[in-house]
Amino acid sequence: MPSTATTSRPTATAAWTRRHLLGLRELSADEIRLILNTAASFREISLRPIKKVPALRGQTVVNLFFEPSTRTRTSFELAAKRLSADVMNIAIQASSVAKGETVLDTVRNLEALKVDTIVVRHAAAGVPHLIARHANASIVNAGDGAHEHPTQALLDCFTIQEKLGRIEGLNVSIIGDIGHSRVARSNLWGLTKLGARVTVCGPPTLVPPTIAQLGVRVTHRIEDAIREADVLMLLRIQHERQEAKLVPSIREYRLRYGIDRERLARAKSGVLIMHPGPINRGVELDSSVADGPYSVILDQVTNGLAVRMAVLYLVSGAPEVSEELG
Ligand code: CP
Repeated sequence: MPSTATTSRPTATAAWTRRHLLGLRELSADEIRLILNTAASFREISLRPIKKVPALRGQTVVNLFFEPSTRTRTSFELAAKRLSADVMNIAIQASSVAKGETVLDTVRNLEALKVDTIVVRHAAAGVPHLIARHANASIVNAGDGAHEHPTQALLDCFTIQEKLGRIEGLNVSIIGDIGHSRVARSNLWGLTKLGARVTVCGPPTLVPPTIAQLGVRVTHRIEDAIREADVLMLLRIQHERQEAKLVPSIREYRLRYGIDRERLARAKSGVLIMHPGPINRGVELDSSVADGPYSVILDQVTNGLAVRMAVLYLVSGAPEVSEELG
């Protein structure tokens, strides 16, 4: 079973100067470490009897999700509440977007209400960046198309660091629908900047040939992805982003790429099993593995709360964390 490693965290020397968090591509390794270290400071707040600090008192955070979400939306809402911010969740289907109002007009109207931070998820790549160019509020990308999902990759890095004590030098294999996955893309940026060796694996139709240019190893053989891995990160097939059928059948995908007990037995002892969720059980991951002793999937969710607290806190421009928590 993965243990919680005790190795100390790498220190970050960067100061946070950004108003937005749009992706990991533009962050330095030190900025990523700063977010992870800030998250580590916030993690214990959720273990207190009173799970709240006044860090963002008087600020307003809006969740503007144009796509479905369970983990990201609820954890951003809870993160804002734990920091004492006021939170609004916009139900897109019940908003004037359904009457044809544009994204930018929606944001301008929210800003007229003097909100401080807008957390955006959208099916189109680049929408949070577009909003950030026009907004006075801080913009946090909660997933844009197949482009980036920075807080997911940050919580994945946090979880690896927590469980294995380091990221540098580890072998991380990301298996599944790489081409349509914003989680894969953000993790490629984050993990390689922190010194991990990343392998991506999937059928040729789901792995863009150009991805090797990002400094990752590409394989289409699941055995090669499993053999040396310290971390196996499984991804679901994103049918909602595929215009054509890219795998012959789910059964065939499962046979060639699904992780079950038998395949897990060929992995290194202590390998971490990760998945951003939602899991398609019995396809990319059997329940025996998803719920088994090597799985840290629910730890990822727990850590997502601390990471999102850190991100909301940093983009708000609030003072040093030690002043707030001391
Ligand atoms: N991992 C993730 O983004 O999950 P949700 O779609 O439920 O937010």
